[in-house]
Amino acid sequence: MLSRRHALTLTAAAATTAIAGRAAQAATIKPGRIPYGACVRLTPLQQEPDYRAAILNNCQELTPEGGLFWGYMRPARDQFKFDFADAVLAFCEANEMTMRGHTLVWYGAMPDWTKSISSAAEAEHELTNHIERVVGRYRGKIRTWHVVNEAIDESKGEAPGLRPNVWLQYLGDKYIDFAFRTAHAVDPTAQLVINEFEIESLDGTSPKRREAFLKLIRDLVARGVPLHGVGLQGHINGKYAIDRDGIYDFVGAVRSLGLSVHVTELDVVDHELPGPIAVRDAIVAARAYDFLEPICAAVRPQMIGTWGITDRYTWVPVWFKRRDGLPNRPLPFDADYKPKPLWNVVDYFCSR
Ligand code: XIL
Repeated sequence: MLSRRHALTLTAAAATTAIAGRAAQAATIKPGRIPYGACVRLTPLQQEPDYRAAILNNCQELTPEGGLFWGYMRPARDQFKFDFADAVLAFCEANEMTMRGHTLVWYGAMPDWTKSISSAAEAEHELTNHIERVVGRYRGKIRTWHVVNEAIDESKGEAPGLRPNVWLQYLGDKYIDFAFRTAHAVDPTAQLVINEFEIESLDGTSPKRREAFLKLIRDLVARGVPLHGVGLQGHINGKYAIDRDGIYDFVGAVRSLGLSVHVTELDVVDHELPGPIAVRDAIVAARAYDFLEPICAAVRPQMIGTWGITDRYTWVPVWFKRRDGLPNRPLPFDADYKPKPLWNVVDYFCSR
């Protein structure tokens, strides 16, 4: 095993310049360490040495930030644009990292042409075609897929509290079973995950969301759907305290179903936190600590990932701009790639 790994390292180094040698060392997971992952953007990955260095020095797993969204890959019904995801995969393969697939089914970032889907047969055809082409292309390479993302809408108040999307509209609530079964048929060895947000805060909403999510997970397991893991996104709203007991119980319930747990998109949304950097960074780190601590007390997560690595490239200001005009600071490294208190927290839980 050791010698094979060594041989792989040499091949990668020979093929991809000096960077691979450094990266191969950095990316090697120390025994007992929980892999740390991040989503990445293509342009800085290709063009910015500091960005590449931050990724190479710290990550064991990557996912393209939007490269697998329908909105990016499927500009037209008959088109598949694999360039972004292919580039991230090549980077992962050259540097001994794994790649995670995000995501096959999501109500968000859907191209306009999907609005013209108008029957169950058409919906089934399009969903099948997409999953077969995408999972098929990365069969044996993307080992973990977020098959269904953000399915829960607890405010619907009706069982099973699902968020509207074109698949729910035409295929009913079994669209989730269908997506998992189709992905499993295409790549039977891939680990299939259901991924969800806003289950962690003392915000009055999270308990209902956890309840709806857990009910869905239990139903899927009871129906024998090939579901292997549960992803907690962890886009933490910094203004609320964390529901530590709620998370601990939830993760324990997931574990008792025999499913793996993944922290998939951690960042702390800081638009309503105080401005001073030291104060803000301390709160951000504390929220992440309160989130990860009960998770890691209940289970060993299969990986801990953040949605980006540097405050330089984050979705947060697009959606949650600060009123005082100060830049957001949701991620482990600042805009100059200096580690922040949040990185200490993430690194602590990965290395315990
Ligand atoms: C975000 C991307 O980061 C943005 O670039 C894009 O404009 C919108 O989507 N939950 C998810 C991610 O599962 O896919 C979202 O990513 C952030 C919220």
